[in-house]
Amino acid sequence: MAILTVEGLHVHYGPVEAVRGVSLSIEDGEIVALLGANGAGKSSTLNAIVGLVPTHQGQIGFKGDSLVGLATEQLVRLGITLTPEGRRVFGSLTVEENLLLGSMPLRKSADRRKQNLERMFDLFPILVERRQQIAGTLSGGQQQMLAIARSLMSSPKLLLLDEPSLGLAPQIVDTIFDQIVALRDSGITILLVEQNVAMSLEVADRGYVMAAGSIVTSGTAKDLGSSHLIEQAYLGHQ
Ligand SMILES: Nc1ncnc2c1ncn2[C@@H]1O[C@H](COP(=O)(O)OP(=O)(O)O)[C@@H](O)[C@H]1O
Ligand SMILES: [Mg+2]
Repeated sequence: MAILTVEGLHVHYGPVEAVRGVSLSIEDGEIVALLGANGAGKSSTLNAIVGLVPTHQGQIGFKGDSLVGLATEQLVRLGITLTPEGRRVFGSLTVEENLLLGSMPLRKSADRRKQNLERMFDLFPILVERRQQIAGTLSGGQQQMLAIARSLMSSPKLLLLDEPSLGLAPQIVDTIFDQIVALRDSGITILLVEQNVAMSLEVADRGYVMAAGSIVTSGTAKDLGSSHLIEQAYLGHQ
């Protein structure tokens, strides 16, 4: 069953047509990679799905219900969260405070939020010893884990990850990708935007490649891995 369907999505910023008729779908339990060069329109697509930028035209459905026009907070309650590009944690708050903010839209009891918090510390042990540390003083990799953990605090069914490995050391990148697989194995469906094509196709079931606002090719991760269309999509638009 498709958990997310996007049909004919257009996103405009004034005269800039950043997304031009993107259609994609994600089945329950999949990792789907959304690939493409800088400026292809990947972030705009994710941001439109969660209502952070307006949908100019098109349909976005989550388990059959339309998402267009819903507020981000409503989407979080439905079970969709975005970990935005650039790991935007609240730099002046502690690790624990950042995490607790992630579950705010659910209006859960303090007990439930504490339970979720403990789950995140199990998933990301690096955060345990740092729970009272000011988030802005964490390393880049630790901040990315915090950003992902904060998104998970609302117990999403669908997690949108925008460039989780960007700017991180190779060893940390490996850890992040391992965690992405572990999240999928725990039942979370994932739409993964990445620059790291090879690693994305290793963990993804399927992928879509964007260039200049449109999907230029799509297929199983295996087929895409051996496709020259990916190279073209990157080289053609640098
Ligand atoms: N807030 C904005 N205002 C104007 N143009 C934007 C804005 N955000 C993105 N763009 C433009 O939209 C296009 C797609 O950007 P983006 O979705 O960020 O691509 P990607 O995530 O694939 O790098 C680019 O040409 C970019 O310059
Ligand atoms: Mg982007």
